[in-house]
Amino acid sequence: MKYDEVVNGRRSIRGYKDEPVPKSLIKEVIGLALRAPSSMNTQPANFYVVTGAPLDLIRKGNVERNLAGVPDSREFRSHGAYAGIHRERQIGVAKQLFGVMGIERHDKAARQDWVLRGFRQFDAPVSVVVTYDRSIHGSDIAPFDCGAVTNALVNAAWSRGLGCVINSQGIMQSPVVREHAGIPDDQVIMICVAMGFPDDSFPANAVVSHRKSIDEAAVFVGFNDPKHTQEI
Ligand SMILES: Cc1cc2nc3c(=O)[nH]c(=O)nc-3n(C[C@H](O)[C@H](O)[C@H](O)COP(=O)(O)O)c2cc1C
Repeated sequence: MKYDEVVNGRRSIRGYKDEPVPKSLIKEVIGLALRAPSSMNTQPANFYVVTGAPLDLIRKGNVERNLAGVPDSREFRSHGAYAGIHRERQIGVAKQLFGVMGIERHDKAARQDWVLRGFRQFDAPVSVVVTYDRSIHGSDIAPFDCGAVTNALVNAAWSRGLGCVINSQGIMQSPVVREHAGIPDDQVIMICVAMGFPDDSFPANAVVSHRKSIDEAAVFVGFNDPKHTQEI
């Protein structure tokens, strides 16, 4: 696949075929993701790739704790609820997803079912838990580097016919993930990525989320000088 096909074609996948993913393919994808840049090439990110019984235990623990109302225990700072334009965009994609899934706004049971799917990592056959070295915890650079490698991971997966969704719900109950994935204390849990072969019949997999325009996102400075721009 060409780069444009990968980035324009990729979308979050929330329904998977009940098919195992070969370890060799996951290794190939991780190899590509590791080409991501990192601050001073420090490469702080690590991957705990979980499938089978340990992943089922994570799903079970996540769901049980969610239903029991155990508060979120992510291992990094959170800004709390979104507001303004960010909230609008959050609602925008939720409306797209709920629309194709036939989940009505006031249907609490269906909405709860969707939330629990997220806590089960959308029943994906594989979960890649992205961590970073605790020795550099406390700065914003390591999480930034994890973001770069995670973006590279989902794009690399897509280029090889695999689907992913980056999934904060999956690590909201971090102690459960730490226990069953065997993640040592010298690692900070950043995020997880559900991965598997996309089930094309799952409606949410067709959703193409919107993006702000280039003009909204980019500010061009110093381009008025004809020496520095081709634009008339
Ligand atoms: C840090 C991060 C956390 C996310 N957590 C979740 C999640 O918990 N559940 C979910 O359904 N999607 C999650 N997503 C996926 C986003 O909703 C999705 O990337 C966004 O709506 C854009 O859609 P696209 O990936 O299809 O382009 C997460 C994405 C990121 C980058």
